[in-house]
Amino acid sequence: MKTKTAFICQNCGTQSPKWLGRCPSCGEWDTMIEEVEEEVKAEYSFPPSEPLLYEEIEEPERERIKTRIDELNRVFGGGVVLGSLVLIGGEPGIGKSTLLLQVCRDFSILDEKVLYVSGEESLDQIKIRGERLGLGLKNGKLYLLAETNLERIISQAETLNPQILVLDSVQTVFSSKLSSTPGTISQVREVASQVFRFAKKNQVSSFLVGHITKEGSLAGPKSLEHVVDVVLYFEGERDHSHRVLRALKNRFGPVSEVAIFEMGTKGLQVVTNPSAFFLRERPEDAAGSAVICTIKGSRPLLAEIQALVSSTLFTGNPRRMTIGLDHFRTSMLLAIVEKKLGFSFAGEDIYINVAGGLAVDEPAADLGVMMAVVSCLKNKAIPPDLCIFGEVGLSGEVRSVSQALARVKEAHSLGFKKVVLPQGNFSLLEKEDIPDVKLMDVQNIKQAVGIIF
Ligand code: TYD
Ligand code: MG
Repeated sequence: MKTKTAFICQNCGTQSPKWLGRCPSCGEWDTMIEEVEEEVKAEYSFPPSEPLLYEEIEEPERERIKTRIDELNRVFGGGVVLGSLVLIGGEPGIGKSTLLLQVCRDFSILDEKVLYVSGEESLDQIKIRGERLGLGLKNGKLYLLAETNLERIISQAETLNPQILVLDSVQTVFSSKLSSTPGTISQVREVASQVFRFAKKNQVSSFLVGHITKEGSLAGPKSLEHVVDVVLYFEGERDHSHRVLRALKNRFGPVSEVAIFEMGTKGLQVVTNPSAFFLRERPEDAAGSAVICTIKGSRPLLAEIQALVSSTLFTGNPRRMTIGLDHFRTSMLLAIVEKKLGFSFAGEDIYINVAGGLAVDEPAADLGVMMAVVSCLKNKAIPPDLCIFGEVGLSGEVRSVSQALARVKEAHSLGFKKVVLPQGNFSLLEKEDIPDVKLMDVQNIKQAVGIIF
């Protein structure tokens, strides 16, 4: 019998009968890899289902296990649901193994039995990391296993019968049912779906670690997103110590919740006051700096926007650089500043940066970005106790944003005395809710410049 093979894009999972240099679906080059098309037999071990009346279906009790890290519990929607499958994705070296080891320690202290399987590191290496983290477990039930064969892992897990199972990483583990190499799309999918079945059958909360590259993924955990219950992404710049854990999908809780950690010498520590953390090195009375209030997940967060405008040294196109902001949106904001406020940037390089390596992807930052640029152009500092938020439209109008009160309160709790905000938001605020800050509402950017400078 001839083995049937197919070429599968390792980025997005598209199949093709013949080799292609470029994936027709996602456009990535050189990602098509030949894999044997295996027939995975459907398992009919479950009894056939029958239709049930809606009211006869009992609401399941979702029991959750809480970690000692409140921030993390919030990202999970109040703790890890029993029998759920969680995917934690992130670039290599970002801290996935560290986080999971810390979480496993917490679980084992809570007297849960934990099995941590590593396909990447030896037990010695994990122990070294554990000692560095100060795990110091004396009688916790944390079991380690160095193994890459999925069937063996599952059989060990069935014998040990833990409450928590961790697979680090999904790319190094392979199923002997398939002949393709570990890390290919078919292997990664097979591993995930077997672990999924194991998790549901035995009510074991399971975690899969998935490496992704900056560009998205190679043999992508992306293709697993629909298989698992919860998808968390761990992000951060390598040369900054903070890490953001974000929920992208959560069958049992809210999405886009974030937890912010700092990687230190003893592993990851929760940043309990992220706004203060991101503002801690802010220069006061420096031109070109503006404090904005953005929403990360369900929580307001203050951040500093820095702008620098300097003459282009060489003839040619002036540079427009942004770090932590959307490049196209920022170009649009700069065009509005030029057109509506009468500045001219021809022959000027412009650099805009969100301090601390934070990424801000919300239009509510618009007004702050523009005011940072104006502050630099005027060489006049924005008052250090003033915070700004508002979306800006093409004709220079300041538009209202979501969760205005939460933003105002966050600014107040960090000691800001004045807040510049959209008039549309201001008019809807209940006056008695407002904390003791001076609210300055604006309808367009001209007004904002008038009030701030
Ligand atoms: P790791 O958890 O191994 O990353 P991943 O599993 O995502 O690949 O984290 C590795 C990085 O974290 C490494 O550069 C060392 C650093 N680190 C610390 O700074 N402090 C610590 O206490 C630990 C354990 C790691
Ligand atoms: Mg790791």
